[in-house]
Amino acid sequence: MKKILVVDDAELNRELLYDILKDNYIVETATNGAEALELLREYHQEISAILLDLRMPKMDGFAVIEEMRQNDWIQRIPILIISSEYAIEIENHCFQLGVSDFIHKPFESSLVINRVKNAIKLFSYKNQLEQKVEEQAKTLEKQYQIIQKQAKQLREAKPFNLLMMEFRSAILEVETKLKVLNAEFSQEYNRNPFESIKSRLKSPESIYEKLERKGFPVTLESIRDNLTDVAGVRVICSFPDDIYRLAELFSKQDDIIVIKRKDYIKNPKVNGYRSLHLILDVPIFLSHGKKYMKVEIQFRTIAMDFWASLEHKLKYKKTVEDTDEIVNQLKACADSIEQLDYQMQEIRNKIDHSREY
Ligand code: GTP
Ligand code: MG
Repeated sequence: MKKILVVDDAELNRELLYDILKDNYIVETATNGAEALELLREYHQEISAILLDLRMPKMDGFAVIEEMRQNDWIQRIPILIISSEYAIEIENHCFQLGVSDFIHKPFESSLVINRVKNAIKLFSYKNQLEQKVEEQAKTLEKQYQIIQKQAKQLREAKPFNLLMMEFRSAILEVETKLKVLNAEFSQEYNRNPFESIKSRLKSPESIYEKLERKGFPVTLESIRDNLTDVAGVRVICSFPDDIYRLAELFSKQDDIIVIKRKDYIKNPKVNGYRSLHLILDVPIFLSHGKKYMKVEIQFRTIAMDFWASLEHKLKYKKTVEDTDEIVNQLKACADSIEQLDYQMQEIRNKIDHSREY
């Protein structure tokens, strides 16, 4: 049986509550706040709920609440105030302090039993949840430590650094090809097919985490075979048709092999994500010969990139509230961005067209 503590200076109240609750709980009693705290200090682990009067000699109920807050017991033990018709402001104040419920006089047995039962049930559920969250946090922390350790090993291994150098070189090749196209376009047609390029090499932590998550071995060979986004290049264009033109010009270069093309502009993801992805084999030229490296290029408009960065934040902030609402708002924004991209493109077409005459 669970243990509960009844604290009231009026003997009659203590006896009435004892009678009502004794069949379901082990009922401890205290006649004032000081006595209650003494019992709590010794047995707070065992006590499942406390029924507390506010007005008592020696030490009143508020002092007990205060002490319970300071010791954090209030997080684990529900407090039900034994109410002798306190004013609304006092009741409100008690709730603000973290009290769970009020038991009004005259005591109605079944109501008292139910209120106590509910408070205990809610708290035990909450406590279980908190314990679970704590355990999960510990597991995550452990996993994080492992990842850190493995990543450090990777980072310090010479063959790994060689492989990273090769991926970095592939990024350089792609960047150069893009810059050449940009230079040609600005000379020939007086415009730039893209606004900017952002490149990144996947960190050892992310590489390790992704291999583990997908169930691949953590070896250099496995990185080469199973990961397509160690070398990543993001090309930000002004207009959707620039994306397609650029991607096509790029894909047609005879030393590039297109492994995969994913058109999330024509077929956006359910969340609204839009971009054109190319996974390529790009040759790099080393002292001992030519080697093909995989590179992932993401082509996006400025607006799509703006959207994707914000949406990316949502994915990594698991604690954000109103997630459903944010998901819906993001989807609506993605739709507006799509319209905007095409409207801007139309305007640009009109401007270009009028220039021709
Ligand atoms: P990953 O394992 O995440 O690389 O996905 P994938 O291999 O199935 O390929 P996909 O084309 O779906 O995603 C490749 C990359 O595109 C991701 O690593 C992200 O950089 C980007 N991406 C894909 N989907 C989304 C999305 O919904 N939101 C955002 N912000 N980025 C995305
Ligand atoms: Mg990927």
